[in-house]
Amino acid sequence: MENSPTSLFAFAVFFFFICTQARWNHHAKHKRTCTHEIPSISEPPSLPPEIANQPDVANQPGSASQPEPGNPPDDRNFNSSSGIFEERKFGAVGDGTTDDTEAYRMAWDAACQTNSAIIHIPSGFKFMIQPTIFTGPCHVGLVFRVEGILMPPDGPDSWPQKYSKRQWLVFYKVNEMSLQGGGVIDGRGQKWWDLPCKPQKAVRFFMSSNLTVQALRIKNSPQFHFRFDGCRNVHLESIHITAPALSPNTDGIHIENTNGVGIYNSVISNGDDCVSIGSGCYDVDIRNITCGPSHGISIGSLGNHNSRACVSNITVKDSLIRVSNNGVRIKTWQGGSGAASGIIFSNIHMDNVRNPIIIDQFYCLSKDCSNQTSAVFVSDIIYENIKGTYDVRSPPMHFACSDSIPCTNLTLSDVELLPAQGYLVLDPYCWNAYGELQTLTIPPVSCLMEGAPRFLLDNDMGYC
Ligand SMILES: *[C@@H]1O[C@H](CO)[C@@H](O)[C@H](O)[C@H]1NC(C)=O
Ligand SMILES: *[C@@H]1O[C@H](CO)[C@@H](O)[C@H](O)[C@H]1NC(C)=O
Ligand SMILES: *[C@@H]1O[C@H](CO)[C@@H](O)[C@H](O)[C@H]1NC(C)=O
Ligand SMILES: *[C@@H]1O[C@H](CO)[C@@H](O)[C@H](O)[C@H]1NC(C)=O
Ligand SMILES: *[C@@H]1O[C@H](CO)[C@@H](O)[C@H](O)[C@H]1NC(C)=O
Ligand SMILES: *[C@@H]1O[C@H](CO)[C@@H](O)[C@H](O)[C@H]1NC(C)=O
Repeated sequence: MENSPTSLFAFAVFFFFICTQARWNHHAKHKRTCTHEIPSISEPPSLPPEIANQPDVANQPGSASQPEPGNPPDDRNFNSSSGIFEERKFGAVGDGTTDDTEAYRMAWDAACQTNSAIIHIPSGFKFMIQPTIFTGPCHVGLVFRVEGILMPPDGPDSWPQKYSKRQWLVFYKVNEMSLQGGGVIDGRGQKWWDLPCKPQKAVRFFMSSNLTVQALRIKNSPQFHFRFDGCRNVHLESIHITAPALSPNTDGIHIENTNGVGIYNSVISNGDDCVSIGSGCYDVDIRNITCGPSHGISIGSLGNHNSRACVSNITVKDSLIRVSNNGVRIKTWQGGSGAASGIIFSNIHMDNVRNPIIIDQFYCLSKDCSNQTSAVFVSDIIYENIKGTYDVRSPPMHFACSDSIPCTNLTLSDVELLPAQGYLVLDPYCWNAYGELQTLTIPPVSCLMEGAPRFLLDNDMGYC
């Protein structure tokens, strides 16, 4: 990232609030209702997504969506000796109850037009901001430095009716940006968790590239904590995500149609997948993650609504998964197509995990998913050095592959999984799964079929 000290601006926001609430009322829209059920994982990729439905998106470059454009900052706001852009122009209050949205939008608009600008969220303050789309393209090197606390309105009663309930903070079409700073993003999800309809993601990056998210805590999102879709080159590091184990659908990091992703040195405990990798992702490297309690690291769900899904070159390494429903999981719906291939799970420690190793090609949220013949083709999956303990309610290895399209080339080496309690050793489960053991495993696996199924020769269903 380019960092010229002379162009370092900081937009610190506090002490003074200039937004006139009255303006907003002219723009009040009819009440939005949410009628669809939100699936536990991502909705199928649909571009353009809800941004298109958002009433207040400003489509011009470098703009936070708002009722009226913010005034550009003037020179009096810039302190050239400290590199701090003096904030009174934007001045948010930061007392946790005042609506500071307008200050943030103005700071964004100003920062976006400056090379290597810093939007500084100072520690010791709590900023309440409404759903906002921070839109690029911006000058490169923008830093959103969160040292204090950022939070949305508290629950459905305070959520502004004119905004979509589907998301809170969105960064859209931004290139070379960093979100960092050691502060906290508090999703205040508690009042939403029991409701059928809730903001689906706290922080979303959409159609953006060259992003860094680093040294941040994010907690209690209504649903997903981070979601990246349509992004490229994303580096996440030292992220700490927490939500209660029983909070529904609170995925930690979800990526979709996104490639070139690194997720490192992070700790996640939540009520759904720790990391979920959706359709259209490739070149993903995950290392040194601690998950749990959670639902583990998931590839999928893929192929929902008969869609084509392609996922490849995914590595998950050097990680710990504890007290989770699943360890490393690949899940696909019946009726999909495409392929999930080139996936390596390596050096992962399991601590009391219910399904440490699982492929589920019959993923279904209700009980009546109909049987279908097409499926996402699962192949070239390596499980190496996966050790630890499993919860004896389920077998430690479960390879349930499609009736019509078997999984192929599953490779296991140095897999040792022992019951967390007692001595009950459950047999691994396989259905239509081909692969080989490179070393003996604990427990022994005898249900994998050798070689490759004949259908591979004349089938292009796995084409991606
Ligand atoms: C500008 O920043 C310097 C260094 O932090 C500080 O000493 C000075 O008081 C600031 N000037 C104004 C006008 O705030
Ligand atoms: C992202 O960074 C890479 C490497 O620095 C650069 O080649 C690429 O052009 C950048 N992407 C965009 C969209 O600018
Ligand atoms: C792994 O991540 C943790 C933070 O979660 C960090 O403290 C530790 O130093 C990292 N280990 C390595 C080898 O980088
Ligand atoms: C796989 O992804 C990694 C990044 O995670 C990348 O460095 C590597 O080049 C990719 N491999 C292939 C064959 O594309
Ligand atoms: C799907 O197939 C299974 C196993 O062959 C069968 O038990 C089940 O009844 C079928 N379900 C439907 C909806 O046809
Ligand atoms: C099996 O998978 C491994 C690793 O993904 C790959 O290197 C190898 O070429 C595959 N073998 C076949 C026969 O496709």
